Amino acid sequence: GNKVSVGLLGLGVVGSGVIKIIESHQEKLMHQLGCEVQVKSVLVRNPEKQRDVNTDRTFLTTNPDDVLNDPEIDVIVEVMGGIDEARQHILNAFKAKKHVVTANKDLVALHGKELQNAASQNKCDFYYEASVAGGIPILRGITDGLSSDRIQQVMGIVNGTTNYILTKMDNEGMSYEDALKEAQELGFAEADPTADVGGLDAARKMAILGRLAFSTDVDLEDVEVSGIKNIALEDLQYGNQLGYTMKLIGNANFSNQQLEVEVQPTLLSKEHPLSDVKNEYNAVYVYGEAVGETMFYGPGAGSLPTATAIVSDVVALIKNMLLGVTGNQFVEPYFKKELKTPAE
Ligand code: HSE
Repeated sequence: GNKVSVGLLGLGVVGSGVIKIIESHQEKLMHQLGCEVQVKSVLVRNPEKQRDVNTDRTFLTTNPDDVLNDPEIDVIVEVMGGIDEARQHILNAFKAKKHVVTANKDLVALHGKELQNAASQNKCDFYYEASVAGGIPILRGITDGLSSDRIQQVMGIVNGTTNYILTKMDNEGMSYEDALKEAQELGFAEADPTADVGGLDAARKMAILGRLAFSTDVDLEDVEVSGIKNIALEDLQYGNQLGYTMKLIGNANFSNQQLEVEVQPTLLSKEHPLSDVKNEYNAVYVYGEAVGETMFYGPGAGSLPTATAIVSDVVALIKNMLLGVTGNQFVEPYFKKELKTPAE
């Protein structure tokens, strides 16, 4: 037809960004797809709430069925967050033969395989570019851009909060507590920042990256994690004097048919391209056998950057729809999971 209707689950910071990008980039979308894209309805908790986005053309509802079982809607975008309810809605969306885009890293890290399988069984697409490193197109970079290479290492600064804290401590001698408070005020820390500073948020993203880069199963428990809570200002300053920068690094390394995935504070030589990534920015360094070193840099959070990744996923799956194909990747692992047991 000449219009594709999208249903949104959630209208917080990211959901509002999705409506804004779809409205303000309509011409660009039309040019690529030859059809209009419209957010038809949104599942919200409170339709009366004041929002900083124009919803005149959008139906706000508290009933999930209005969105998930509307025959006019082909694409569901899940930006409500949380695990159980979001998972159930997505499974229901697949049952109703709708394609799904999500930004939900917690959900994809925990239930990605189940959701991917449900998508394939229903011949639907399931995309989640925004779940790792916000606006950086790293999942597509790995799965499309580098699909012909054998990736050997993926190394990332994939948590903005901890990178902000470490940068402020390192460059300005700020205390850990003050830097964390600033990160929370700026809005990129999780509601409960324990997941940021403890390394779990980065571990979720590394599990997703590891799966896609190495075409294998990686569970969250397979990722060895330590956070930045016990890093003292003196450690940072001492490292600095020796020419090193402290970063919370996620590292997925494939060698001798074994994959090792970990997140830990790491002293990087100032020569390493990741050592220059400052404040809340994210970056992912990918080493491929043939391509050598590559690095993807950009905003790891924020309304419009994250929404850009989501709407690009929507574009990708509408292109598939128009061609009558699905673009799901890696239903069957390419090599069997054989992870090193941590700390041996
Ligand atoms: N709390 C996350 C971060 C937000 O600091 O990077 C983006 O996932």
